[in-house]
Amino acid sequence: MISSAASGTQSNRRGVADTVLERKGAGVAGVQEMTIGVVGGTGAQGRGLATRWAAAGLKVVIGSRNAERAQETAREIAEASGGDVTGQDNAGCAAAADIVLIALPWEAHADTLRALRSELAGKIVVDCVNPLGFDKKGPYALPVPEGSAAQQAEQLLPESRVTAAFHHVSAVTLADLSVSEIDLDVLVLGDDREATDVVRELAATIPGVRGIYGGRLRNAHQVEAFTANLIAINRRYKAHAGLRITDV
Ligand SMILES: NC(=O)c1ccc[n+]([C@@H]2O[C@H](COP(=O)([O-])OP(=O)(O)OC[C@H]3O[C@@H](n4cnc5c(N)ncnc54)[C@H](OP(=O)(O)O)[C@@H]3O)[C@@H](O)[C@H]2O)c1
Repeated sequence: MISSAASGTQSNRRGVADTVLERKGAGVAGVQEMTIGVVGGTGAQGRGLATRWAAAGLKVVIGSRNAERAQETAREIAEASGGDVTGQDNAGCAAAADIVLIALPWEAHADTLRALRSELAGKIVVDCVNPLGFDKKGPYALPVPEGSAAQQAEQLLPESRVTAAFHHVSAVTLADLSVSEIDLDVLVLGDDREATDVVRELAATIPGVRGIYGGRLRNAHQVEAFTANLIAINRRYKAHAGLRITDV
């Protein structure tokens, strides 16, 4: 039984991910059968997560504004991880995937998502974007009119199943496959329980990582903003700090 938080647009939200879930006949199973797209996958964060997912045996499609750059990055990740990784432009990547990670700079978020609305319809979208500014005092959270990057994504992608996750994981640690276990909980936020369960499962494909439900999308602002605190911690202690939730 598929349950969606959507109301009038529920049928529009059903996509390939739903089909896979239905075929599996179980709510949270099936991430291993899904294709993971990474919009902005040539950057540090997209590369890092793609490397881990490919190493875990998931099929990954890297997206870029430039298809050749995506293919080149995909070749490098496939070589490092031994996995199944291909590259396309961002629209091709979004169209080919069941779950799509948005790994773009905040400045590129709104325009890029607006342009990908039809390709992302029915897909589980995972937003990891942290709207941050930097000045001589260090990092700080930027105000976002919609509340958060994830809520902006929800507004721009009404036919998608928008979740927010992977804000606090270090791209450096992800890319270093000699780190065999990453000591981290990934907070997964969203209003669609089945989608957040799938993304929790996606997080758990990375050794050492747990995916923990972190509330509805309206609570994404402080999760995104907390990255400024983590960056400050990393600078002071020369670390790649993460987050663990206790008693869960
Ligand atoms: N780095 C981390 O450790 C980390 C950790 C957690 C979360 N995050 C979040 O993840 C997101 C990506 O971080 P990142 O460090 O990977 O960023 P990045 O390297 O600066 O950018 C990622 C990719 O976005 C594309 N891009 C850049 N400017 C663009 C524009 N104006 N329009 C469209 N596409 C553009 C580029 O790909 P093409 O040129 O190939 O199109 C670039 O490779 C950020 O929002 C960040 O807050 C990062």
